[in-house]
Amino acid sequence: MNKIITKKPIKQNTLIDNHGRTIDYLRLSVTDRCNYRCTYCMPEKMKFLPKQDLLTLDEMDYLCALFISRGIKNIRLSGGEPLVRKGIINFISKLSRFIERGDLNEITLTTNGSQLITSSQDLYDSGVRRINVSLDSLDEKKFNEITRRDDLCNVIEGLEAAKNSGLKVKINTVVIKNKNLDEINNIILWAHKNNFDISLIETMPMGLTDKDRIDQYISLSEVKKIILEKFTLIDSSYKTSGPSQYSKVEETGGLVGFITPLSNNFCASCNRIRLTCTGKLYMCLGQDNNIDFRNLLRTEDDLSLNLAIDRAMRNKPKSHDFDISYKNQAPAVNRHMSVTGG
Ligand code: 5AD
Ligand code: SF4
Repeated sequence: MNKIITKKPIKQNTLIDNHGRTIDYLRLSVTDRCNYRCTYCMPEKMKFLPKQDLLTLDEMDYLCALFISRGIKNIRLSGGEPLVRKGIINFISKLSRFIERGDLNEITLTTNGSQLITSSQDLYDSGVRRINVSLDSLDEKKFNEITRRDDLCNVIEGLEAAKNSGLKVKINTVVIKNKNLDEINNIILWAHKNNFDISLIETMPMGLTDKDRIDQYISLSEVKKIILEKFTLIDSSYKTSGPSQYSKVEETGGLVGFITPLSNNFCASCNRIRLTCTGKLYMCLGQDNNIDFRNLLRTEDDLSLNLAIDRAMRNKPKSHDFDISYKNQAPAVNRHMSVTGG
């Protein structure tokens, strides 16, 4: 890959979609592969994308550079599990040049925590300062049931390593009605004791799993009632570039975020686009329309790539159509979260 961006951007250096939203946040799924099999995310026998369809890391770097030149200010790497992609640390180190130049605010990462014992220091050294770590239970048995892997101790040690490396950690917890609801207050307390913020997430109907989503889904407005039995929540104006609405827990001083795609749709303030590891740009997590940048990158010039970005802005859907309201309901989209990245 030695293509150089030669043409000027088509429009100004700010991406604005057809609904007037400024788009400055790119989520990049660097691999759809994962060493866990969380029950709300994928089935045990998951079929991953064919390896030969993947973008190379150089191609991903090229596309990131293109999106940054058009106004992307934050990049979150996700997956699957991003740290299982070979060469990922070098990729991040290289991408950090845009932070040094002031063209990018930050590179963040969403991980399941399984590789943090060995990767935390490298992540910090490569330029990452904030990571989100998915953790849905502090109970070994439940952790195994949710992730289908016996790995809780490894993740807890990994979190310690992340802290010691200077990474700011936020815990992501998907609240699962029939599984970890009774643990939520305990997880919040544990997170804040460790100086981690935490976001709670509603399960989203993406792809088929072995479970019925209606048995897993609970509205976070219900979960809030359970939290209020133990804690005092104070609305907070704290904002990251993501969709969490934060409250401060008076008793601990820590933050708890609520990500409520189903019970309280936040699409009106969406600032995100998503690139998959095979180069498909999805303008919405919960809709199917996409643009194949792999094909464009391999066959067309920068002008066409920039025109495709303009097209993406015109076609970004107003909102998703997530709904979980009856048994055996088909998912809103067929692809799993691990394809588009969380
Ligand atoms: N619904 C909600 N959250 C999900 N995640 C993965 N699949 C789903 C789903 N179907 C979560 C992961 C991780 C984040 C990227 O998204 O647990 O925290
Ligand atoms: Fe892997 Fe994350 Fe999906 Fe769990 S939720 S299986 S850790 S990609």
